[in-house]
Amino acid sequence: MPDSPIGIFDSGVGGLTVLKALRELLPGENLIYFGDTARVPYGTKSHRTIIRYSLQNTKLLHRFRVKMVVVACNTSSAHALEILKEEFPFPVVGVVEPGAREAVRTSKSGKIGVIGTEATVKSGAYRKAIVSLDPFCQVYQKACPLFVPLIEEGWLNDEITRKVAERYLGELLEKGIDTLVLGCTHYPLIKNVLSQVCRGVKLVDSANAVAKEVERLLPARNRSRRGSVRILVSDKTERFERIANMIMEEEIEIEEVEIDKE
Ligand code: DGL
Repeated sequence: MPDSPIGIFDSGVGGLTVLKALRELLPGENLIYFGDTARVPYGTKSHRTIIRYSLQNTKLLHRFRVKMVVVACNTSSAHALEILKEEFPFPVVGVVEPGAREAVRTSKSGKIGVIGTEATVKSGAYRKAIVSLDPFCQVYQKACPLFVPLIEEGWLNDEITRKVAERYLGELLEKGIDTLVLGCTHYPLIKNVLSQVCRGVKLVDSANAVAKEVERLLPARNRSRRGSVRILVSDKTERFERIANMIMEEEIEIEEVEIDKE
């Protein structure tokens, strides 16, 4: 059981920010990542489709005898987490709850901005999670649908990405937020641009918060050796490989797998 891998999934490259955080915090663990690159983005899909994809992805990881699954996708966490917890015999951890906790801990004014995909913002999952932790917090949300394609394109430090960020974030900054939750696991990849646009605002990246949550939940830990990492995708492309190598800062072979669509 301690040698069983921790499974992690996202729609594409975004969840690699969570994989990286887990690798750093728990270097002895075997990790297996699945990026559903054939069906990215999830953020524009319906509630029903996001649930179906999330169930299929978790089933795929189950085949690898994982001991836990981390839903490294805010969109899936916001729409499918409860169903995944009911359906599978291992713990399933989402990114929304840890991110919300970190935001409440970080904010001094209680004015918290949340950016995410359309589906995450529409679900209101962050607002609910933040307000249940502190009912005095004011939560301002903004969907930023252009960020995911810009990031998947690799435009991480680009002038166009900065302009898009200015346009999206203007109204949140006008509200006087002091904390901004990056409510999509893709967004930490444009942290540089976001911190230039949001000077003086603390950015909450749920990747680190979720890694700490996983550490807390693990009954036993492998400390004596370096764990293995596997990266699986539903569509293997050069672009994914390039971005994955850049994020992970180590060469990891990318394997293409077939999703069982039942
Ligand atoms: N990275 C994902 C998230 O955290 C989803 C991006 C997408 O597929 O739209 O929401």
